Amino acid sequence: MTNQINSDSDDGSIILEFATDDDVATNGSNCPSMNELIQASINRRQALHGIATFGLFAAGGGLVSGVMPAAAAPTRLSFKEIPHRHEMGVRVADGYKADVLIRWGDKIIPTAPDFNVNKQSAEAQAQQFGNNNDFLAFMPLPLGSRNSDRGLLCVNHEFTVPGLMFPNYRREMTSSERLPLIETEMAAHGHSIIEIAKAGGKWQVMQDSSFNRRITTLETEITISGPAAGHDRLRTSTDPSGRKAIGTLNNCAGGVTPWGTVLTAEENVQGYFVGDPLNTPETRNLKRFGFGRPWFDWGKHVDRFNIEKEPHEANRFGWVVEIDPYDVDSTPVKRTALGRFKHECATCVVNPDGTLTVYSGDDQYFEYIYKFVTRDRFDAGNRDANRDLLDKGTLYVARFEAGGSMSWLPLVFGQGPLTEKNDFHSQADVVIEARRAGQLMGATPMDRPEDVETNPNNGRVYVMLTGNRKRKEGNAANPRAANYHGHIIELAPPTSGGKADHAATRYEWSFFLMGGNPADDQSGAKYHEDISDSGWLSTPDNCTFDNQGRIWISTDGQPKSGFSDSVYAAETSGPRRGLTRCFFNAPKQAEICGPVFTPDNKNLFLAIQHPGDDFRKPYTDRATRWPDFNEELPPRSSIVVVTKNDGDVIGG
Ligand code: FEO
Ligand code: CA
Ligand code: CA
Repeated sequence: MTNQINSDSDDGSIILEFATDDDVATNGSNCPSMNELIQASINRRQALHGIATFGLFAAGGGLVSGVMPAAAAPTRLSFKEIPHRHEMGVRVADGYKADVLIRWGDKIIPTAPDFNVNKQSAEAQAQQFGNNNDFLAFMPLPLGSRNSDRGLLCVNHEFTVPGLMFPNYRREMTSSERLPLIETEMAAHGHSIIEIAKAGGKWQVMQDSSFNRRITTLETEITISGPAAGHDRLRTSTDPSGRKAIGTLNNCAGGVTPWGTVLTAEENVQGYFVGDPLNTPETRNLKRFGFGRPWFDWGKHVDRFNIEKEPHEANRFGWVVEIDPYDVDSTPVKRTALGRFKHECATCVVNPDGTLTVYSGDDQYFEYIYKFVTRDRFDAGNRDANRDLLDKGTLYVARFEAGGSMSWLPLVFGQGPLTEKNDFHSQADVVIEARRAGQLMGATPMDRPEDVETNPNNGRVYVMLTGNRKRKEGNAANPRAANYHGHIIELAPPTSGGKADHAATRYEWSFFLMGGNPADDQSGAKYHEDISDSGWLSTPDNCTFDNQGRIWISTDGQPKSGFSDSVYAAETSGPRRGLTRCFFNAPKQAEICGPVFTPDNKNLFLAIQHPGDDFRKPYTDRATRWPDFNEELPPRSSIVVVTKNDGDVIGG
């Protein structure tokens, strides 16, 4: 989700068109940590130059520390770079093609009606592909195989823009007019599971597959598990048990478990609720999360999205939800042990001791990076034994130190400041108010942590920091004030038995790159010294790795720099480490989410989100009508699959 409004406006008014306030700071402290104190004497200029002084910036050369074994240098990326641009459609490097696989509104259940923008309904939408696709997971069929020609594509649907969905939408509508549209929006949120297959070099959606399924905000029942399940603060008038939520919301990025389930991350959930936190028993909690600044009007018409009527409903969102795509009858589960905040992602990695680590960024200015480590071991031989693995373990928050070290601080009830004295009465309180717990522990406020992904080839962890134009003073890990272009940090866990140990509590870290235009001396941008005019990037959001360990980065915000959001690829080791090159351009005003390869690396799926979405303009006035280019249709978020014309591995 990008930032399209003047988020400084703080009048509490309802913004009915697309908007987000993930660039608003609700972390009132922004300097309680040791890290901040260490950095207090370093002004912006010194901090930038200090990158080199500290020896932390490793792009353009060797790796910063000896904690990880050097991975074999990958094959040189062979594609011819494409220029920055701003056009109506998509573009990919020469020798590749980009096909649209599925669009918002396309049928995924045989009984679904064909998409008709003038006859949308919740019933139709619940059988059609949802809106504003984000995270993508390719889950091979059959389960447990590495098949790259047939699988389940699992897709998050993050948000809706009513002014772009409904030709008859107006700001002022009566409840009876507006409610059917809201229910259609709720049915367009959530998740889709679709079977896809490749035949003759072309991918198709198998519309009659028994795996195909929608999970929506409107009506999907979801179990709540873990330390907050059943707690008073999760009980509502329609669910006195505190264990059964309806729906999932603002599903952004996600993750895949080693037992073949998908994790979907609930991010900007506060934007859907009306009401003033001051008029609820959850004032401190809701204000810290950012409630009270609605962008959707749902709560004017649906009581559960009004925090003054149902204050605990707000505590039932902001979690990581586990979905089993291979079992169409399974009930998704909200895993509260992983904490409640604006989860960007939930990236899983198995540790040398068999436990599992799940990484998440909390996507807002000055918020934190978290990881969860399971108490018990993953059982590769018994899928069912892992069913509730994510319910028990330790949640940690990250603190970065100058000099290239970092600590993971446990968020455990009774430890340190997480006691009754600070109004924590159980682990349920800790996970519900994970941000406040992290703040008390001394976590480092970051520049909008988005995706956190692990590189399977070198065991390192890459953190996308989209930017923070409100930062006034740098700290060690976020050195630039007014950080418009973001940066990428590389975390290096220690090794155990030759494998990266993501359960450890001390890592080393360095900068992988600093976004912005390196031709601008004032930008603080840092890349490999051979970076081209087209290779620099801004606002990194999501990333993935190919099976040679090369990073593929997608952006969310480059239109502010005058060109489309794009996909960039770079090597992560060897002499061309950090040399980003532009591979794919999105249509106007779209961001690119969810990059993911099939296991053979011959197919790259990309989620094109909110093309032509300028909400300031009327429905009829769109910057692009991609992918249909039909004046009768709005632009539609869609999935694109990139393949090489000769069918070979992407990137060479
Ligand atoms: Fe949904 Fe953080 O982007
Ligand atoms: Ca985004
Ligand atoms: Ca994102």
